[in-house]
Amino acid sequence: MIVLAAGEGTRMKSTTPKVLHTIGGRSLVAHAIRAARGTNPQHLAVVVRHERDRVAEHVSQLDPDALVADQDDVKGTGRAVECALEVLPPGLSGTVVVTYGDVPLLTSETLQGLVAEHHASGNAVTLITATIENPTGYGRVVRDADGAVAAIVEQKDADEQQRAICEVNSGLYAFDAAVLREALADVGTDNAQGEKYLTDVIAIARGRGLSVRAHLVADLWQTEGVNDKVQLARLGAELNRRIVEQAMREGAIVIDPATTWLDADVTIGPDTVVHPGTQIHGASTIGRDCTIGPDTTLTDVEVGDGASVVRTQAELAEIGPRADVGPFSYLRPGTRLGADGKIGGFVETKNADIGEGAKVPHLTYCGDATIGAGANIGAGTIFANYDGVTKGRTNVGAHSFVGSNSVIVAPRTIADGAYVAAGSAVVSDVGPGQLAVTRAQQRNVDGWVARRRAGTRTDEAAQAALAPTPDASPTTTPKTETKDARR
Ligand code: UD1
Ligand code: CA
Repeated sequence: MIVLAAGEGTRMKSTTPKVLHTIGGRSLVAHAIRAARGTNPQHLAVVVRHERDRVAEHVSQLDPDALVADQDDVKGTGRAVECALEVLPPGLSGTVVVTYGDVPLLTSETLQGLVAEHHASGNAVTLITATIENPTGYGRVVRDADGAVAAIVEQKDADEQQRAICEVNSGLYAFDAAVLREALADVGTDNAQGEKYLTDVIAIARGRGLSVRAHLVADLWQTEGVNDKVQLARLGAELNRRIVEQAMREGAIVIDPATTWLDADVTIGPDTVVHPGTQIHGASTIGRDCTIGPDTTLTDVEVGDGASVVRTQAELAEIGPRADVGPFSYLRPGTRLGADGKIGGFVETKNADIGEGAKVPHLTYCGDATIGAGANIGAGTIFANYDGVTKGRTNVGAHSFVGSNSVIVAPRTIADGAYVAAGSAVVSDVGPGQLAVTRAQQRNVDGWVARRRAGTRTDEAAQAALAPTPDASPTTTPKTETKDARR
């Protein structure tokens, strides 16, 4: 199995090598390698040249067993295959399949179909062809009267009559190894582009009386390559359409497939509802009976059965079964929310282990914290984890209660079964059963409004409230200070 990925991809107009661009969460070459591996080849070689080191490193990461072949200065697909044969065992026999690193929608099934037909018919070469409306740019398939393939003629070398042919070469082939090796030795570069064409192997094989046949595929998407960013988006959208359709066939309910983007590795359990405007990336796994979205982006997130994640951005996070997240929550890497827990509106979390049934419902920053089961973190609590030099961790024990608008200065431990009064700045640890209060005593200053805001509507309202009413006892005011404390 040989994957060609040495081309320059100039039309991409990008500093990123073409085959490293991604659709469906995988690089183009990763899609190609997956399809190739799905046929269980004995050897897999990837030919590189343009941005050699970046592509080679990426390939080795994806598939450490893949052989990386370097193409030299001689240009053309034929030379690329020749370079691949050099890293494969000498004297290799059997079938050699050639594909492109920039044809991402090709499936293993299609390649298996190609190989099966190649073996069944005993061809020297079998190539995947497609009939398209506008064949401009492609190599044309010239057939014999009996339907066998006589030759492939490149656009730039074709005459008027050949250019009118609408059956094109997809660039995906099964070759007999010996025929390929021997024919390539005879391929020259005497053509319009001065390249060593792989397609010339076909006419050479035919000249030796060998059989070359076409394997026509109807699903044109599978043969389409990416040459520019318009095609990248087009094929990305089609791949997504296929992934979303597959997710629905496996039981997910997708309200709006057109605005739902799923990466190829995402799994979604049955009866989970995915609302519009949702993107699920990376290796995310979503359980069954969940509600995801609308307007939610999850990257490498694990969501347990029955959880709800609404208008949320999350990355590298775990959301437990039946937990409730959002709307407007931001879960950063290292967030783990236990079963039945809650992360509510305008809450940001990071490296936060939030226990079963624990709740962080409103307006909180929860960074570097462990929160015990059943604890409740009041609205507006800040876990101050950074002192400008180091980051510290905070523990809040099981069933503890942190009052609203508190700041907990890390590193800090609040024990199981403790309380923090609202508005406290917690700078020392709190023991089990204790209440921590750090705010100043409240003072109510009598007559302040009458003295300092005389004549305002506030003053009028106060006077009205203080006036004795005929049908009721006089309005009582809360406990007041005895002394008039002017400031
Ligand atoms: C090639 C075919 C053409 C076919 C078309 C389908 C030849 C001579 N022509 O044309 O019949 O219709 O593909 O898309 O084969 N590559 C290398 N090394 C090279 C040149 C290319 O590895 O020196 C790789 C590219 O990275 C790419 C693939 O081969 O993945 C095809 O190269 P490209 O330049 O796009 O070939 P075409 O001229 O389009
Ligand atoms: Ca091409």
